[in-house]
Amino acid sequence: CPSMTQSEVEVGQVRGMEVAPQGSWMVPPRPAGRVQLSLVIPTLNESHSLSTVLVAVIATLDTLLPGAYEVIVVDDNSPDGTGQVAMALQRRYPQVRGVCRQTERGLATAVLRGWQVAEGAVLGVMDGDGQHPPETLVGLWQALEPRVDLVVASRHQPGGGVRGWAGRRRVASRVAQGLGWLLLPEVVGRVSDPLSGFFLVRRPAVAGIPYFPHGYKILVELLGRGQIGSIREVGYHFQARPAGRSKVQPGHIVSYLLHLVRLRTAVGGLGRFLRFALVGAGGTLVDMGLLYLLHDPAGPGWPLALSKTIAAEVAILHNFLWHDHWTFRDRRPAGRAWWRRLLSFNLVCLGGVLLSILLLEGLVRLGGWPYLRANLATVVLVCVWNFGVNNGWTWRSVKS
Ligand code: GDD
Ligand code: MN
Repeated sequence: CPSMTQSEVEVGQVRGMEVAPQGSWMVPPRPAGRVQLSLVIPTLNESHSLSTVLVAVIATLDTLLPGAYEVIVVDDNSPDGTGQVAMALQRRYPQVRGVCRQTERGLATAVLRGWQVAEGAVLGVMDGDGQHPPETLVGLWQALEPRVDLVVASRHQPGGGVRGWAGRRRVASRVAQGLGWLLLPEVVGRVSDPLSGFFLVRRPAVAGIPYFPHGYKILVELLGRGQIGSIREVGYHFQARPAGRSKVQPGHIVSYLLHLVRLRTAVGGLGRFLRFALVGAGGTLVDMGLLYLLHDPAGPGWPLALSKTIAAEVAILHNFLWHDHWTFRDRRPAGRAWWRRLLSFNLVCLGGVLLSILLLEGLVRLGGWPYLRANLATVVLVCVWNFGVNNGWTWRSVKS
């Protein structure tokens, strides 16, 4: 982390960067004080953008919350000198605090470290690369009415959108959101942009709770483990990046999926997902066995398409019976006839077959994946699809 020069130490006029706390991820409760809003800006190699972003944020907040806010830059010891930029800005603006992390890395954890040292009654986060318009802070703050806990800047609300993202990144973002909804509809389904990195939340809704943050998605973690009541959303346009590049790596997708499974466990219901996957594995054995018995020349030797259709439908019936009497036993709504559940289960499975063909073709032809690896990824993704849609539709929990 950047340190002060000896003369600066002697002069004593320059605040050095604070060193981030370590250990627990818990955000401490704090009594109400002068600071109403603590806005955390996580940075990694943003030396070209941070100054412009901070000056615009300060101009916005000086009007909105004069003397009642702080901006906390949490930098992961960026090799490009972002820390020095933060220190220079601290000299000009007493409401700017630079926090440096020596060894820890990660966007979600950087946000929590900033909130741990924050003083504000409301905690916020926005990117330091110029993609989150500072003027949106006004709409967020105004939407945070007394009985609202969380206000999210959403790309998917009226007035929202995305500029400067390639098609692949847009698709990846929507697929990630879809997977989150399928695995955790009651968490991820609470907002239209659960992957947003731009929001304000009241400290009591997130304080005193042990978090297990990983990767990029701090909002999903809060929605899953926080005590968040009423939520509002404000549409905004995610801007093209003015300088530098995104730090998102393919590994973030894996950590996101693991994060979803961990949250699924934490909020309950992983057992249901595992039961669903186990029944699916059994159904695969039924499908394979029956296909062999019907199509093999040593047996009836029926045509492949006919054999596959019969084998697939028998496997679907097998899975339906198990799901109806085991996986979703507690979800068989009295007023809904079993054949309606069977019909919707069939439709979902048919959708899963079509989806698997599209995914397989896409991963092999566009992604260049070997077909067996692509098929394995397809089986996992379609299992999540079948679970999520059946969980949310065929055997939806009937509000008591
Ligand atoms: N301290 C720290 N440590 N900061 C980080 C790290 C890290 O490991 N990784 C990224 N950042 C900072 C960047 O410097 C930037 O200020 C902000 O976090 C966003 O990082 P990007 O790499 O630019 O993310 P993105 O633009 O691809 O995605 C953003 O928008 C998505 C859609 O709203 C992020 O906000 C995502 O969280 C969000 O899902
Ligand atoms: Mn960005």
